[in-house]
Amino acid sequence: MAASGSAIGLGNVVFFPANAYRFGGGSFYLPYLLALLVVGVPLLIVELGLGREHRRAYPGALRKAAGGTGEFLGWWALFNTGFIALCYVAILGWVVGMLVGSLGPLWEPSTALTGFDAERLANPRGFFYRMISRPAPLLFIALIWAANLWIVRRGAAGIERAVRVFVPAMWILMFLLLIRGVTLPGGVDGVWYLFTPDPAVLSDVEVWRGAISQIFFTISIGFGVMTAYGAYLPERGSQTTQAVLVSFLNCGFEYVAGIAVFAILFAFAVVPQASTIAMTFFIAPEGIGQLPGGPPVVTSFGVLFFLLLLLAGLSSSVSMVEALVAALREKFDLHRGATTTAICTAGILGSWVFALPHVVDPQLHGHGTLGMTLFDLIDHWAFDYGLLLVGLSQALLLARHRRIERLRRSLDARSPRKLGPAFDILVGRVIPVLLTALLVWSLVAEVRAGLYGADATFADGWSRLATVAPGAALLLWLTVPTGLAILLTRWPPVPRTRRSQP
Ligand code: PHE
Repeated sequence: MAASGSAIGLGNVVFFPANAYRFGGGSFYLPYLLALLVVGVPLLIVELGLGREHRRAYPGALRKAAGGTGEFLGWWALFNTGFIALCYVAILGWVVGMLVGSLGPLWEPSTALTGFDAERLANPRGFFYRMISRPAPLLFIALIWAANLWIVRRGAAGIERAVRVFVPAMWILMFLLLIRGVTLPGGVDGVWYLFTPDPAVLSDVEVWRGAISQIFFTISIGFGVMTAYGAYLPERGSQTTQAVLVSFLNCGFEYVAGIAVFAILFAFAVVPQASTIAMTFFIAPEGIGQLPGGPPVVTSFGVLFFLLLLLAGLSSSVSMVEALVAALREKFDLHRGATTTAICTAGILGSWVFALPHVVDPQLHGHGTLGMTLFDLIDHWAFDYGLLLVGLSQALLLARHRRIERLRRSLDARSPRKLGPAFDILVGRVIPVLLTALLVWSLVAEVRAGLYGADATFADGWSRLATVAPGAALLLWLTVPTGLAILLTRWPPVPRTRRSQP
């Protein structure tokens, strides 16, 4: 349940509908399903299995499987995850802002905005821009980190207690939204959109890359979190079955979320813009704001929607924190409470850095994408490249150390469903070839188009930032995880005492 709580998150409710829309609705289906079956499930089996096999968090487990390079990869992945966590919690802070807003101001008639793009802004959009450019979300971000601290400092038991409430609550909220969406007049058209394929899109490599990135993100692979959770699994039980179950629960939830969101969008003929964040923060509220039944209905569905996002996001963010806490404790024999407090404090400061540009310069040009901020830039590298890079390196390393077959045999010994030797070829050969091809293709496309964000628009007075920010973000993403990973891998481990027991 905790693993499915990690998997089900903003990715399901926010990124999936946005990606499905961007990549042609029904046509996204096929690449998505293939990515899940060919890459997603096998890598989830490996990541969960590694944890269960070695009883260590990601760097420790990879060290046992593949030596020092393995440990380096483990730390690198966790710091890449760290960047994503900072952005993720910043978004959750905004979700709280919207949740508070949905009690009233979010639904008020559109008010003129000064200082933003000249185009007339619908109220949710105006509300969102105003909200993020005030200091309140910084407080909400701190609260989300405090909630993470509160849950993770109790260890596996704390996470267990939280997900027992959060996960069923998420499903209930999602079904309420689904029923509301599909019973709206015109809502079913949205469902058709999601399921009517347009094969022309399939020849577009970008769609396939989008599908694989979505799968990595949504089932939490390439982050190192599933290995940390796998380390707590009991002796008995099959990671093959667990991985299949978690993936299907997650992707089932994702499709239900897609149907609900598309139904609401189509019922009100709201055209989503390209951006993922736009979808959640203004398109969905625009749809909800038009629900028939007046303020009580609108308010309650708005609250439901943002509460769902909050619960889903919180049960995901705790897994990122746990992955890092567990790894650091193992390495340095640290107390759980102190380690969690240190990480969450650093998290507050880090997430503020991502949310602050909007407070400092509320005029960041928002072509539905919030402009090109540090947020977009880091997210681009950590998400579009980092996760796939971890998946690829992990497969190559395990193959080089002849660990895949060993792991598979041990998984098969405890599972009623046998993976068989084809699994070794899939993980050791097919997946690396696929991921290398996609990464090279993306990089070439990127180099041709110019460095990501190089054409960013910033408001007057900040335009000089636009010239250095894209390069600086790339450098930051490359150097911080690499530097820290080298340092931590070289550092001799502190012998374990009882302190670092789970
Ligand atoms: N799977 C989460 C989502 O869909 C993202 C995530 C990945 C969260 C890894 C935590 C750890 O939102």
